Amino acid sequence: MTFPENFVWGAATASYQIEGAAKEDGRGPSIWDTFSGTAGKVHNGDTGAVACDHYHRYADDVKLMRELNLAAYRFSIAWPRIQPDGSGPINPAGLDFYDRLLDELLKAEISPYVTLYHWDLPQALEDRGGWAERDTAHRFADYAAAVHARLGDRVEQWATLNEPWVAAFLGYGNGVHAPGRKDAAAAMRAAHHLLLGHGLAARRLREQGARSLMLVVNSAPVLTPAQVDDPAAALSEEDAAAVRTIDALLNRQFLDPALRGEYPAEVLAAAERNGGTAHIRDGDLAIINAPIDLIGVNYYNPCVVRAAPGTPADPAWPGSEDVGFAAADAPVTAMGWPVVPTGLSRLLVRLSHDYPQAGFMVTENGAAYDDVLEGGRVRDADRLAYLDGHLRAVDLAIKQGADVRGYLVWSLLDNFEWAEGYRRRFGIVHVDYATQARTPKDSALWYRDVIARNGL
Ligand code: FCB
Repeated sequence: MTFPENFVWGAATASYQIEGAAKEDGRGPSIWDTFSGTAGKVHNGDTGAVACDHYHRYADDVKLMRELNLAAYRFSIAWPRIQPDGSGPINPAGLDFYDRLLDELLKAEISPYVTLYHWDLPQALEDRGGWAERDTAHRFADYAAAVHARLGDRVEQWATLNEPWVAAFLGYGNGVHAPGRKDAAAAMRAAHHLLLGHGLAARRLREQGARSLMLVVNSAPVLTPAQVDDPAAALSEEDAAAVRTIDALLNRQFLDPALRGEYPAEVLAAAERNGGTAHIRDGDLAIINAPIDLIGVNYYNPCVVRAAPGTPADPAWPGSEDVGFAAADAPVTAMGWPVVPTGLSRLLVRLSHDYPQAGFMVTENGAAYDDVLEGGRVRDADRLAYLDGHLRAVDLAIKQGADVRGYLVWSLLDNFEWAEGYRRRFGIVHVDYATQARTPKDSALWYRDVIARNGL
């Protein structure tokens, strides 16, 4: 099985999850420093203060990427390194780090895919209301323009946001992520202001000459339990309504404004019931609908729902009244996430069909398992099988007409897995946090060979 000739192979990480050096070279505090420093928020009290110490070990890490044949590396920029107070003066020492990293990557002939926001909002902006406030969108565009002004000569691929659904609804809705707020109306506003920030930043970057712009979403097919096995399974009217609602909240809430300049009716109705729609101002949708080149799809598992009349809305899903979230009949990873590779092919085919305005790229896919390092080796057959299955799903989607340009595994390294801390290992490379030793797992060596032959 061979992938298209220009198919891009790589891996992804994010600043707060790997960098460490939380107080070095003028970096200001982010909402994740505050959140992880608050008792009871993150498993085991883990924080990103040291993480994989990538800030100091980036050169060795790039060498490792090269050994694994990666052609692309997706990483994110820590806003609080660039603007310690979230606005105003730029901290040149913060940009210097990414400057050095980029030079290393380009020397190794690895294309950088830069994400401007992967959840580490400067705490100073959260103190002024965070993403629930409109001003944060403007501050984001200023920050994005400043980063592009310094690094734009060496970066072709820019992503504005990573997973705005998670940032808004886990950050401000159920409070499982930083900043840990539990306020449905604030979450609805945050989602809109994230999108507004995306549109404002996209415009600024384009004006400054950026060639390729991307929005990264945590998209998933929304299925009933029966549809997990049989996509053609017939649905009751009630189940079909539950599927439509969650598909609107998870997928169309972001893709429709960004690619079509409109909100789904279900999202407007959810906003009406949760604080109203006054924060959506005339002209916003035209800004959000800035032309972009790629949609980055982060896929881990399908979202499984059924009708459940009388159920109140889940705090992470304002507008989800009468919907029940269900388990899939499938094996699960260490996160408890069901392994359903067919979900990825269905998703890519559907998105490519519904949104011909952009190309697609799998910007995250991978799995956490309870790895064991033994005699210098990690035999992660389960992760290898997960990746193999999902690559076959990407191949199938391409054969069925989806415009998929590449695949980035999550993640290069074991790292700080947000509320789960370090106990969940997603890396294809094992990290011993006591010594910072890196050991490529069996899946990494397998992936290296997949890349070399551009196929399975
Ligand atoms: C995604 C995040 C990424 C990582 C994976 C497991 O939602 O974008 O940072 O935590 O999940």
